[in-house]
Amino acid sequence: MKLDGKVAVVTGAGQGIGRGIALCLAEEKADVAVIDLNAETARQVAKEIEDTGRRALAIGADAIAKDEVEKSIATVLETFGKIDILVTNVGGHGRTSWNRSSPLFTDQKIEEWDEDYQLVFRSHVLACHAVAPHFIERRYGKIVMISSVAGKLPNPANMTYGTNKNGVVFFTKALSRELAKYNINVNCVCPGIIYTPNWERLAEQHIRFAAQARKKSGAAGPSEVEQMTPREYFEKRMIANVPLGREQTSEDIGRAVVFLVSEDAKNITGQDLNVCGGMAL
Ligand SMILES: NC(=O)c1ccc[n+]([C@@H]2O[C@H](COP(=O)([O-])OP(=O)(O)OC[C@H]3O[C@@H](n4cnc5c(N)ncnc54)[C@H](O)[C@@H]3O)[C@@H](O)[C@H]2O)c1
Repeated sequence: MKLDGKVAVVTGAGQGIGRGIALCLAEEKADVAVIDLNAETARQVAKEIEDTGRRALAIGADAIAKDEVEKSIATVLETFGKIDILVTNVGGHGRTSWNRSSPLFTDQKIEEWDEDYQLVFRSHVLACHAVAPHFIERRYGKIVMISSVAGKLPNPANMTYGTNKNGVVFFTKALSRELAKYNINVNCVCPGIIYTPNWERLAEQHIRFAAQARKKSGAAGPSEVEQMTPREYFEKRMIANVPLGREQTSEDIGRAVVFLVSEDAKNITGQDLNVCGGMAL
């Protein structure tokens, strides 16, 4: 097993990609601290990990609140005595972004930019800032941040999200240079399109946008998109955008993370690995 004896922290691990990463790390025999805003789902994932024979710790905490992040890391250190692996996975979209009425920049509220910055970019900075001193002291550590191919493919409908995800790639590279002398690897993974609860909600939003745009244009409806279920809309987007023609899974991302934090990748740092079926080409 690749991660026997290692202790990992995964943020936003109560569902979706974070859960997939936590389970893949546990499969390779790492003990895992599961941090999530939703304490209940964090507990459920921790229980799944314990059922595999590994140690797990569930922490309900907000990844954009500095004090809560620092307290969580202190709790992990108290419980497990060390941290070897940090995976910063929290991202997605802030409240204003979910409630917006159109994808256009001119229709966006500035609050959307502020909230997405906190969630999609600053959450990574806070977690790394809390854990880096421990890694430096031990002259060992692996950091993987979850960015997105959306950070590489400018798309007006995704402007705040993509801009901040692009920032995560840049931050990965800059931090990797500073921490390399302490034997700390810093990389990021850029997922493509994965049908998590986050994507289901996104599909619902895009279907709503299609309805609003059609009504505004005065066209008779409903349009083809309006009649789709979120899953059908996701599949349409996936087929149109993924050269390999298949969706990615949370386990695909988990396995990429396992590789990057394993000894197999000890000489890989500052990289942004696309796991996207060719979407970023
Ligand atoms: N799903 C995709 O297709 C896709 C593609 C590229 C990148 N990503 C990125 O992957 C990551 C995970 O996405 P997902 O689709 O699994 O999302 P998700 O919404 O399904 O799951 C996110 C998890 O993070 C938790 N969370 C949200 N805000 C938090 C906060 N402030 N503090 C602590 N926990 C918080 C949620 O409770 C939830 O359990 C995100 O960074 C996302 O941007 C997703």
